[in-house]
Amino acid sequence: MGFDKNFLWGGATAANQYEGGVFEGGAGLSTADVMTNGSHTVRRQVTWKKEDGTTGSSPLCFGSDLRDLPAGAVPCLLDDAKYYYPSHIASDFYHHYKEDIKLCAEEGFRCFRLSIKWSRLFPNGDDEKVNEAGVAFYRSVFEECRKYGIEPLVTLSHYETPLALAAKYNGWASRHLVDAFVRYARTCFDAFDGLVKYYLTFNEINCIDAAPYVTAGLIHGSEQNVAAAAFHQFLASSLTVKAAHEEHPDLKIGMMLAFGPVYGYTSDPADQLLAKQMEDETLFYSDVQMMGRYPKYKLKEYERKGIMLPVEKGDLETIAKYPCDFLSFSCYGSSVVTTHMEDDLKKGEGNGAASRRVANPYLSTNAWGWATDPQCLRIALNTFYNRYHCDLWCVENGIGWNDKFEDGTVHDSYRIDYMRANIQSMRDAVEYDGIPLMGYLYWGCVDMVSNGEGEMAKRYGQIYVDADNYGQGSMKRSLKDSYYWYQKCIASNGEDLK
Ligand code: BG6
Repeated sequence: MGFDKNFLWGGATAANQYEGGVFEGGAGLSTADVMTNGSHTVRRQVTWKKEDGTTGSSPLCFGSDLRDLPAGAVPCLLDDAKYYYPSHIASDFYHHYKEDIKLCAEEGFRCFRLSIKWSRLFPNGDDEKVNEAGVAFYRSVFEECRKYGIEPLVTLSHYETPLALAAKYNGWASRHLVDAFVRYARTCFDAFDGLVKYYLTFNEINCIDAAPYVTAGLIHGSEQNVAAAAFHQFLASSLTVKAAHEEHPDLKIGMMLAFGPVYGYTSDPADQLLAKQMEDETLFYSDVQMMGRYPKYKLKEYERKGIMLPVEKGDLETIAKYPCDFLSFSCYGSSVVTTHMEDDLKKGEGNGAASRRVANPYLSTNAWGWATDPQCLRIALNTFYNRYHCDLWCVENGIGWNDKFEDGTVHDSYRIDYMRANIQSMRDAVEYDGIPLMGYLYWGCVDMVSNGEGEMAKRYGQIYVDADNYGQGSMKRSLKDSYYWYQKCIASNGEDLK
């Protein structure tokens, strides 16, 4: 009735928020390493310099409308005490991986998602030789997972691009990155042969519209550049699938989409149409990666805007021939949009005047305004399955909270409530709707720096890490109440949600 006996329960992480060790083992910098800390009231910044020596910072991250660094500026680290870069230490997985994987194994994990930092293997992204120390580090991580029977799920690109490629080529706007990425992916396939079976190409590929620098290393993110970069990522993903199928037929390569159902606020058809259009803006990315072609509505939009795709001979055939093997997604909640309530929208209530989003009166939110929706996973899974009829995998779901650490633990009943509601919703989709689901990974299973805000205060983990917003602390790991709850849930294969 319920989940398959091989259902992949576990947790998810990303190198730029978790790994640290940025200056160790011969790694090169990535775009994430020059992003400063922030909070839900202060935007993260990208630091930069110009040839004439001028330096500065610009909020080229999530939540900001800015799309360009100043003319002539390139992103770089600045040696100035006023800037703090949280990726450099993060949760120091680099030195704690054995301990973290053991704790996750004891929690019952069957799968552990992590990303490889491309610039740890190729410091400039396109170097002739691979950095062997980087390969050795990840091999050791995967061997540790295997020791406990944990299946690693590896994201090849999770919100970081080698910095040199961003500075020199404007990131994925350039076709140069397609070949460089495919070479990097093939290097991983060869180096981790027999240790890793599942890969994801680009994390939340659709977020390029909201944060072109973060997702695709664009330091100049005009709509034209974003469309070109997305095209290059689609092509690189298909070429990666091709290489895997030809050279390592056991591998499964997935795509990764950020998704949340979008509801119209009123029964005014205009609200319903808006909700549908906003969902389509997201599903465009999975249409290409799962069905192998651009949907008409997107091509029409490009035509209206005068956007040209940098298509070369054979590209569209490659995209059509090599869609991804499965669709993985993140889903944290839902959103509500309306064509009404001009006053509220103007005040920016409910998260962003430009997006036409308003708060959902039926749902509670956390301190960062993220709503918990007890139906979102069921709706998401039905949306995907009815459209693509493919294997699905929820690889991110979770809730950030300013946890209180007391008496050696965190009593996070709010996190347990969130997980209970979401896992129930996913179970309903499997049991009642017959959706084939490969697994569920809780996001940020070990506390780590938040991506949007660059702060440690927004914690998702079931495992607490003693570190503050500035990487100060013992890095000691402690188990929260939610750790034991999830352990019980996994042991019962999702039956015991009490
Ligand atoms: C997803 C990203 O969007 O959401 C993660 O893939 C991110 O990298 C997660 O951490 C939660 O977002 P945030 O901003 O709260 O860290």
